[in-house]
Amino acid sequence: MEAAARAGAGGRGIGVESPKRPRLAIAASPIQGRGVFAVEAIRRGAVILRMDDSRVIDGQHPLRPEDGEFAIHRDFLPDGTVTLMFSPERHINHSCEPNSYIHSANRKRFLLAMREIAAGEEIFVDYALNAVDGDEWECRCNVPTCRGYHKCDFFTLAPQLQRDYLPFLDPWFAEVHAARIQRLLSESL
Ligand SMILES: C[S@@+](CC[C@H](N)C(=O)[O-])C[C@H]1O[C@@H](n2cnc3c(N)ncnc32)[C@H](O)[C@@H]1O
Ligand SMILES: [Zn+2]
Repeated sequence: MEAAARAGAGGRGIGVESPKRPRLAIAASPIQGRGVFAVEAIRRGAVILRMDDSRVIDGQHPLRPEDGEFAIHRDFLPDGTVTLMFSPERHINHSCEPNSYIHSANRKRFLLAMREIAAGEEIFVDYALNAVDGDEWECRCNVPTCRGYHKCDFFTLAPQLQRDYLPFLDPWFAEVHAARIQRLLSESL
């Protein structure tokens, strides 16, 4: 396994309670290409990593394929900003039964564990969370509840699944799309 150095950089201060980020590794995934794996158990609610959103892609700063920047690693923020994902987050695959989710505070995005994650488990997010009008492909996540054809768009999920996912929706996304979420809730009364 290739060590994901940035993700394991948490240290301990002397006499100071210092949170330690879980160690992660990048390795071949049974789902697609490479994936991110927990090296040690991660408790529910733990911060797995902070997303590095520093590389913004726009008209003046386009992708540089000659420097290894590719469209597949773009990420779409709730305010419409497009960023380039770095490692290890760029290697996180999608699952229709994810074990992690993104939560923002002050527009800084963190990846949190949705449930207890065992050592050796692959880290997954549901790409439909916090996305609208994204790309589509045949999902190979292999879970019993796999939706099959995947579309990166929260609002195309079945209404019950959208409601089930509300606690895991990024507050930033929920704020931007408050009217659509209110409609979802009102229609289920
Ligand atoms: C950012 S990459 C994910 C990491 C990638 N496996 C790697 O090697 O770096 C996103 C792409 O991985 C593929 N992918 C991720 N999860 C998948 C899944 N469950 N089924 C099929 N393809 C998936 C899709 O092609 C998607 O556009
Ligand atoms: Zn699936």
